[in-house]
Amino acid sequence: MVEFALPKNSRISGGKTWPKPAGADESKLREYNIYRWNPDDGKNPAIDTYYVNTADCGPMVLDGLIWIKNNIDPSLTFRGFCREGVCCSCAMNIDGQNTLACTKDMHDVDAGAVKINPLPHQPVVKDLVPDLTNFYAQYASIEPWLHTSSPTPQKEWRQSPEDRAKLDGLYECILCACCSTSCPSYWWNSERFLGPAALLAADRWVKDSRDEATGERLDNLEDPFRLYRCHTIMNCAKACPKGLNPSEAIADLKLKMVERQV
Ligand code: SF4
Ligand code: SF4
Ligand code: FES
Repeated sequence: MVEFALPKNSRISGGKTWPKPAGADESKLREYNIYRWNPDDGKNPAIDTYYVNTADCGPMVLDGLIWIKNNIDPSLTFRGFCREGVCCSCAMNIDGQNTLACTKDMHDVDAGAVKINPLPHQPVVKDLVPDLTNFYAQYASIEPWLHTSSPTPQKEWRQSPEDRAKLDGLYECILCACCSTSCPSYWWNSERFLGPAALLAADRWVKDSRDEATGERLDNLEDPFRLYRCHTIMNCAKACPKGLNPSEAIADLKLKMVERQV
């Protein structure tokens, strides 16, 4: 019989409640419940509770995490860099939704605690840092660069404004993995299904008027799992913090597969 229970060592146990910051205005405190796991201490994951002094930090969820690290618990581990939704490093699950901590205003999270977990269904490196090795390998597998066989032009590969516009809604992807890690098909088949982020990138290169490897790119996706495990559940489009629609890109790839048969 299939067993759905989590392995014992991945069950979340009770965590620590850290003291409220001394001297802070109680009305300015915001509770944060944060997933903690340290591969070196042999303990189960836990949810720790912190109180952020919002009068002393910026409004975004990432600002609160940085404040905790600087003022309460330096061992709290997360990624973040650009603080403006560009570098992709702060992707995490906030209040049940995958998004970027630097563009999510903590005041937009429903009343009560701000609940933060790592991106779901990925191995965890530590605390809020997921291991995205497989995700990046899948991106690399679609060969995200220009393929040409024509002689290299003296100056540049030209593209008309109209053809360039066909890449809108695709080139803006920052590879944050919010979409792939919210996709049920990807949860169950992440070794074989490429997932929405890699497929959106595949569509970006198939649509590029300068690229001369469309046939090979589609051949590379002709597989029961790599492309066709998408069941148009649309979680990916809902999750994307950049407002992109990977499910539409996947539908476009499927259409191109059909068109080349006729
Ligand atoms: S539309 Fe496809 S890729 Fe997007 S969440 Fe659904 S199954 Fe996953
Ligand atoms: S499509 Fe959106 S959610 Fe997916 S990796 Fe790109 S930016 Fe992130
Ligand atoms: S810190 Fe760069 S996207 Fe959030």
